[in-house]
Amino acid sequence: MKKLSARRRHPLAALVVLLLALACTGGLYAAFAPASKAQADESAQSLAIDEGKKLYAVGCASCHGTGGQGTSDGPSLVGVGAAAVDFQVGTGRMPAQQPGAQIPKKKVVYSQAEIDQLAAYIASLGAGPAIPSEEKYGPEGADIAKGGELFRTNCAQCHNFTGKGGALTHGKYAPSLEGVDPKHIYEAMQTGPQNMPSFPDTTLSEQNKKDIIAYLDAVNGDDTESPGGLSLGGLGPVSEGLFAWVFGLGVLIAVAVWVAARTAKAKKS
Ligand code: HEC
Ligand code: HEC
Repeated sequence: MKKLSARRRHPLAALVVLLLALACTGGLYAAFAPASKAQADESAQSLAIDEGKKLYAVGCASCHGTGGQGTSDGPSLVGVGAAAVDFQVGTGRMPAQQPGAQIPKKKVVYSQAEIDQLAAYIASLGAGPAIPSEEKYGPEGADIAKGGELFRTNCAQCHNFTGKGGALTHGKYAPSLEGVDPKHIYEAMQTGPQNMPSFPDTTLSEQNKKDIIAYLDAVNGDDTESPGGLSLGGLGPVSEGLFAWVFGLGVLIAVAVWVAARTAKAKKS
């Protein structure tokens, strides 16, 4: 008895009791407290994946397979990433309709919220490029001149010098890039849809992509008119030179013929 009370009065006893009490309340709090932010994000994410899975089963599984593994009517979507889904569904290419040389852009059938859910589901099947954030494709810090240079070396052979588009072989075509959402331009470069090659960050850095998008906005924005009048299809110096040759020379020849005819007539009379 004497011993116990002596121990109770030990100078550290109060501290031990206090620590025990704190540990208990901490544990209780952790057990009953509302889910933390990280957990909340996680459950929102798994909810999006579930919703996306349902949308996928109805609209996409017939061609891409019930688990995204692909069928004879559509490729596997494992590892294509959220960016590919956002691009394909966000531009109305997917869900595809009839087979053809190239699946065209059409009216978008899903809301952006549904597209995000589909993208979350596909991303859960295998890691791939994520949907870019606005700062990656926004105009801040972009170099338009550098973008033009990069566009001419990487994209113009298919899309034309100012992105007006052009025909490829076998009924395929590179579409005009006028009015395409900057986010979709970024995603097209990331994922390389159909006959377009992909340009991962190792080929075109994030900054390069930003510069190209800013260049396209500068040449295709509503507020830019062709300097010097008619754009002649924006084909560049070759077409404009050809125009000068064909029309310019034609006019000169016509004038020469007319002058010659008149002098001949004047001599006769
Ligand atoms: C009628 C069949 C069909 C349906 C329905 C369909 N797809 Fe596709 N999808 C295709 C084909 C075919 C391709 C390949 C196009 C190509 O690259 O030539 C494709 C390509 C894709 C790609 C690009 C894959 C890559 O490698 O970048 C994505 C992403 C995609 N589909 C998502 C979807 C989603 C999401 C849905 C549902 C909303 C859907 N598709 C519905 C046939 C279909
Ligand atoms: C080998 C030819 C080729 C090259 C090079 C190429 N593209 Fe494409 N691009 C295509 C084709 C073909 C399509 C159509 C694909 C489809 O409909 O799925 C396309 C589609 C696009 C789209 C989608 C347009 C829309 O209407 O939704 C964008 C944006 C785009 N390309 C940007 C670029 C940029 C930027 C570059 C250079 C970094 C580039 N492309 C290089 C052939 C090319």
